[in-house]
Amino acid sequence: MILYFSGTGNSLAIARKIAEGIGEQVLSMYDAVKADLSGEKRIGLVFPTYNLDAPIAVTQLIPRIRFPKDAYTFVVITCGAQTNNAVWTVRRLLKQQGVRVDYCHKIRVPDSSALAFGRNPNDQAWKFGKFAPRLETIIAELAAEKHRLHFAGFDPFGWLMSRENLQRKIAQMTTPQVNPDKCIGCNTCVRVCPQRNIILLENTDRYADGVQNTDKPLAAIGPHCTWCLSCVHFCPQQAVEVNGKTVSKAFQYHHPDIRLKDMLKR
Ligand SMILES: Cc1cc2nc3c(=O)[nH]c(=O)nc-3n(C[C@H](O)[C@H](O)[C@H](O)COP(=O)(O)O)c2cc1C
Ligand code: SF4
Ligand code: SF4
Repeated sequence: MILYFSGTGNSLAIARKIAEGIGEQVLSMYDAVKADLSGEKRIGLVFPTYNLDAPIAVTQLIPRIRFPKDAYTFVVITCGAQTNNAVWTVRRLLKQQGVRVDYCHKIRVPDSSALAFGRNPNDQAWKFGKFAPRLETIIAELAAEKHRLHFAGFDPFGWLMSRENLQRKIAQMTTPQVNPDKCIGCNTCVRVCPQRNIILLENTDRYADGVQNTDKPLAAIGPHCTWCLSCVHFCPQQAVEVNGKTVSKAFQYHHPDIRLKDMLKR
């Protein structure tokens, strides 16, 4: 079984390709919390690097999943460039559960957070071709149940950067905010948010000065964000802003093999 976490579909697409290649199924990490995995002979974890480490959602989900202790266990991490301490963190969390990681690797894909730095993630589609042979190798090695740990060591720079105050600063750059003037209350972000961190406020008074009231609901983002940017990239009105800036349609990104409906099935 391959457990995945994904905000813009890169990790889901890679999880599916590996599953197809080695004859496994994929399951969202959120659903894995409730699943009985005791009979699984192979367990994979596929998720992105966020802010030089594993996403907070992943570090919170792993301790809640009951992993089989004797399964062949692997970790494949997607990233724009570097995984830094993502593998190290997850290996440590799994070790606390008595689970040893047998194989890990990384695969580079378009950086879904590039827009926070004024760059277009879609301009990085060249990575699919460049790193396709790496993915083939990973699939072949997993099929053969090889024992190899790539990018698994502790990275002091990553550790330094992921201290809480610095992490908060980096997170500010990727914090989503709903623009009330653009939101039409379509509910897409509510459905796509893996953390169930968005609600629709009904009958909103959109303007504090009371200039205009409307019956249209308005999306409101809560405190449990894991900065996956799913809401930003999938909003049909480009109403979810990042770093105080509008994200144009041209800068919205999701993996080309993944549709909105795939992101809702989790
Ligand atoms: C908030 C955030 C932070 C990120 N930080 C990093 C990073 O530190 N290093 C990196 O190489 N890529 C980083 N990325 C890029 C993602 O790891 C990459 O786009 C990943 O494939 C996204 O996976 P997903 O489509 O499954 O959500 C970041 C992306 C986001 C949204
Ligand atoms: S997806 Fe966009 S338009 Fe739809 S409710 Fe969310 S913020 Fe509003
Ligand atoms: S609010 Fe947006 S960025 Fe935060 S977890 Fe939900 S979908 Fe991801």
